[in-house]
Amino acid sequence: MKAIECTAYGPPEVLKLIEVDKPIPKNNEVLIKIHATAVTASDIYLRSSELPLRYKIPMRLAIGIKKPRKSIIGLVLAGEIEDLGKDVKRFKKGDQIYGITGFNLGAYAEYTCMKETDSMAGCLALKPSNISYEEATVAAYGGLLALQYLEKGNIQPGQKVLIYGASGTSGTIAIQLAKYYFGAEVTGVSSTRNLDLVKSLGADKVIDYTIENNVPNEDQYDLILDAVGKMKTSEFKKNCKKALSPKGKYISIDDGDLKLYSSRLEKLKEFIEAGHFKTIIDRTYPIEEIVEAHKYVEKGHKTGGVVITF
Ligand SMILES: NC(=O)c1ccc[n+]([C@@H]2O[C@H](COP(=O)([O-])OP(=O)(O)OC[C@H]3O[C@@H](n4cnc5c(N)ncnc54)[C@H](OP(=O)(O)O)[C@@H]3O)[C@@H](O)[C@H]2O)c1
Repeated sequence: MKAIECTAYGPPEVLKLIEVDKPIPKNNEVLIKIHATAVTASDIYLRSSELPLRYKIPMRLAIGIKKPRKSIIGLVLAGEIEDLGKDVKRFKKGDQIYGITGFNLGAYAEYTCMKETDSMAGCLALKPSNISYEEATVAAYGGLLALQYLEKGNIQPGQKVLIYGASGTSGTIAIQLAKYYFGAEVTGVSSTRNLDLVKSLGADKVIDYTIENNVPNEDQYDLILDAVGKMKTSEFKKNCKKALSPKGKYISIDDGDLKLYSSRLEKLKEFIEAGHFKTIIDRTYPIEEIVEAHKYVEKGHKTGGVVITF
């Protein structure tokens, strides 16, 4: 099968297309034929290891000191169960699934095996039936991040929420979850070219972060969610906290680790199947062009998700 090996931490060119044997599922595993994976912000950090020391050290301890010890990287997948071990009860052949592989990586390949228990740990679930495999990769990564941090914000219906970074993978989904799942009044912040998109996703108001002194009036938001993370900023973001209400919370998508709960992928599936959901795909590349895809995502301005197909 085709797979992408990460031969060292470094620029996109460290990624090499190789042929390896198709894996065989153990008794407690499913064999997944991967139809689509994604190049996420996390894949860039993982491959380049260009991170502040406080993130770099724990990441290298977790995934490999000099290079990823699991040389086939890739975090997000959507595909089909092709085979299963004899002890697997929760899935059957032909099930369409989506999820993330976590520290096991391995999604940059035509096939991978995951444990049945990964579904209890929140990494694997049946794919929403009304979206494609490509869209499901965006929904899994952006959806898990957005839902975790919006739940942390404990938003109540009618409260005011500001999403900074509303046009990224997690931002485009955070807008929709905040509006249609939590019932909030939502303001989305993006650069000029993405304002119309953010509005079309359900934002009640939009603000352009590239215009200086564009910070909204003080004391109004119950939650400000920074969906681009701590490594990207602007004058707007620096001043954003002034717009929080006295009891409002400011949460960054980088506060703590992605915590997986079995119910989140299932909640997202229900929400998506209920219809209030658009998945934004910026670009799709075939697996052979993974280096180009990493170069594009590394620029930091993708709109929605970047998908890789096999
Ligand atoms: N907590 C965890 O465990 C965990 C796990 C995974 C990821 N993360 C974090 O989640 C972050 C978001 O990932 P993502 O894939 O959703 O983001 P993303 O898609 O990479 O974000 C891209 C978007 O960010 C916007 N952007 C770029 N620079 C900006 C700036 N200075 N100010 C405002 N917006 C800016 C771009 O919009 P414009 O082009 O319009 O500027 C673009 O649409 C990652 O960077 C990482 O820090 C956390």
